Amino acid sequence: MEKADIGLYGLAVMGSNLALNIAEKGYRVAVSNRTASKIDEFVAGAGDLAGQLVPNADLGAFVASIKRPRSIIIMVKAGKPVDLTIQALLPHLEKGDAIIEAGNANYRDSVRRYDELTPKGIGFLGIGVSGGEEGARHGPSIMVGGSREQWHNAEKVLTDIAAKYDGEPCCAYLGPGGAGHFVKTIHNGIEYADMQMIAEIYGIMRDGMGMSPLACAEVFKSWNAGPLSSYLIEITGLVLEAVDEKTGKPLVELILDKAGQKGTGRWSAIAAQELGVAATTIEGAVAARSLSAIKEQRVAASAIYDSVPVEKCSATLEQLEHALLAGKIAAYAQGFAVLSKASEENGWDLPLGTIARIWRAGCIIRSRFLDQMASSYEKDDAVNLMVAPDFVRIMEANNGALRRVVADGALAGSPMPCLGAALAYFDGYRQAQGTANLIQGQRDFFGAHGFILTDREGEQHGDWPPTLETD
Ligand code: 6PG
Repeated sequence: MEKADIGLYGLAVMGSNLALNIAEKGYRVAVSNRTASKIDEFVAGAGDLAGQLVPNADLGAFVASIKRPRSIIIMVKAGKPVDLTIQALLPHLEKGDAIIEAGNANYRDSVRRYDELTPKGIGFLGIGVSGGEEGARHGPSIMVGGSREQWHNAEKVLTDIAAKYDGEPCCAYLGPGGAGHFVKTIHNGIEYADMQMIAEIYGIMRDGMGMSPLACAEVFKSWNAGPLSSYLIEITGLVLEAVDEKTGKPLVELILDKAGQKGTGRWSAIAAQELGVAATTIEGAVAARSLSAIKEQRVAASAIYDSVPVEKCSATLEQLEHALLAGKIAAYAQGFAVLSKASEENGWDLPLGTIARIWRAGCIIRSRFLDQMASSYEKDDAVNLMVAPDFVRIMEANNGALRRVVADGALAGSPMPCLGAALAYFDGYRQAQGTANLIQGQRDFFGAHGFILTDREGEQHGDWPPTLETD
């Protein structure tokens, strides 16, 4: 039997769609899975593409059916299942072969796997794949990290199956070790912030303006034709207009308001904290999901605080649109700032412009303004999007609306952890004289931590008076 060009292990939703995508691009794909019956089911449902598939339940036969040097994509649940799969494959692999781990891995696991496999002569690529089921089948955004040599072996297949933006593949090698999965993690952090900001705007439309889901849907649909144009805005309109078949009610009103989270958003916030980067919109979004999960406590508290006075919202729909735009730019600025710091700390040399370019299509956060972000990093060499000329103009034109909407949210009792964080970031980032001088004074007072005086050299200490307690 003719050998396969590439292997794919793990035929759950993402893996099977990815395998069909590869087969459709004309490659022969060896496929395998832990549960053998799943392989038969998959091949039986592959239609015209079945002829491109080389199925094998036996791992040795699966590996042997792939052309050398072998590239084997593994698409199994993140964590232990990935390590178990690698261990099971290892005895069958030969020097020069490579494992391409395509799940939502913690980047530290990818660094470890890269470090463990490299001395054995086995290449490792950790690739972030974004775009959900549809993306996997028809073109995801692919963020590649790991051995550069193995990237060259797999480059053609990966770029062929990736989404295209103006003909340009949304797939690129970004750096060694865990770089690809780190970028995917931050992608997901931004995804969380973007979704949360949209939800906050929906909240003010619903609670502060009394709009129906259908009316909200119309607004989001119209926004999708403007500067906010993006996949998340598009699907928001579609979710808001969906009707529950059984009751005829808007589906969104029947969905329980407890958000799930698999962990990538949290990892993103943790990474930002570890690197000392302010990513408050991402942190706010993660915290909002955690707060959403304690529904019973929220219901009880809402009865206790029933009489807290709230005001009607006075912002216009146009101001909501502008506020969302400004808020989203702050969230992306924070996400890219985390990438920039991680790149510096890990010596990854992450190409920020390329990252923005491969996010323009295929992934969940794809949007019109990522094209502009790519230019800001590539042409203007921006330190932070907040000060990139194109975005300065947008922030100047829209920060007033963000301020209005956050103020309205506060008065209407409609929580805005993300939009509020975006405004505070904007104001904090552009504040030449902040208030940390006072923090430094306090730190020195109680712990002799020292401070710098602006008019002299070296660390200083204050000659602080005793407090009332110590008198
Ligand atoms: C993507 C998504 C995808 C998945 C998230 C969901 O880029 O395709 O980010 O990876 O939808 O992991 O994450 P939560 O369950 O944490 O919302």
